[in-house]
Amino acid sequence: MSTAKTPPVIVLSQLYKRFGLGDAEHCAIDGIDLTIKKGEFIAIMGPSGCGKTTLLNILGLLDSDIEGSYELNGVPVATMSRRRQARIRSKQIGFVFQSFNLVSRLTVIENVALPLTYKGLRKVQRLERASDMLKTFHLNEREYYYPHQLSGGQTQRVAIARALVNEPSIILADEPTGNLDSRASHIIMEELSDLHKRGNTIIMVTHNPRLTTYASRVITMIDGTIESDTQKKRRTKKAARKRPLSGKKKLSKKATT
Ligand SMILES: Nc1ncnc2c1ncn2[C@@H]1O[C@H](COP(=O)(O)OP(=O)(O)OP(=O)(O)O)[C@@H](O)[C@H]1O
Ligand SMILES: [Mg+2]
Repeated sequence: MSTAKTPPVIVLSQLYKRFGLGDAEHCAIDGIDLTIKKGEFIAIMGPSGCGKTTLLNILGLLDSDIEGSYELNGVPVATMSRRRQARIRSKQIGFVFQSFNLVSRLTVIENVALPLTYKGLRKVQRLERASDMLKTFHLNEREYYYPHQLSGGQTQRVAIARALVNEPSIILADEPTGNLDSRASHIIMEELSDLHKRGNTIIMVTHNPRLTTYASRVITMIDGTIESDTQKKRRTKKAARKRPLSGKKKLSKKATT
């Protein structure tokens, strides 16, 4: 997918993000140049505090208080109104947050259906789509639970179902398998991998080096800068069979709930 002709989705030039003022000023992103093409699957690694989440927030238009330039699909983000940014966020970007961010007073299915509110679909259609998405993650029996009734792994899978229900073309995932056992991680990584194969762009933060086998490119950050940036060969089905992320047992609904 990432040939020389593939258009860039994201172009960052001399990007800086500062927090605090005066003596307390801290540069969380310290001069990053980065081009991401449509269809890339990028894994971002690096020690805690190096700026991974800060970078994802900027890429996902959740933080536009930046210095330098960010062009999304050829348009400088600085020239976009807040309204336009919000529209792009809800239609094109799927966010899996490090801290879940489910709405506690809504049921699982309502949480997953939430991003569809802006699509002009009727409620019954929204719930149908949400229900289909939950099936993918073996969560259909939990549709009418509330977030506090779920385990950590289930909560994370609901958060991912919610991020993907809108069929976004850019998926930003902050440690999407951070809380999951290997079998549940496998379900999520296969789903992300499938989205990648369908031509979507995926940017995933992870602390787990094994998950980088799914990525087409691995970026390592340190102190707000890019330390290394490596293109990888695509993970073939054969490689996946040789080194599965799950244990020996076959995936079962029971095993993942
Ligand atoms: N809202 C904020 N106000 C002040 N400083 C912040 C804020 N958000 C992040 N930082 C600082 O910016 C730096 C980068 O934080 P960030 O959360 O991006 O790191 P990270 O690489 O995602 O770490 P982790 O692996 O622990 O999630 C850290 O030093 C952090 O303390
Ligand atoms: Mg983080």
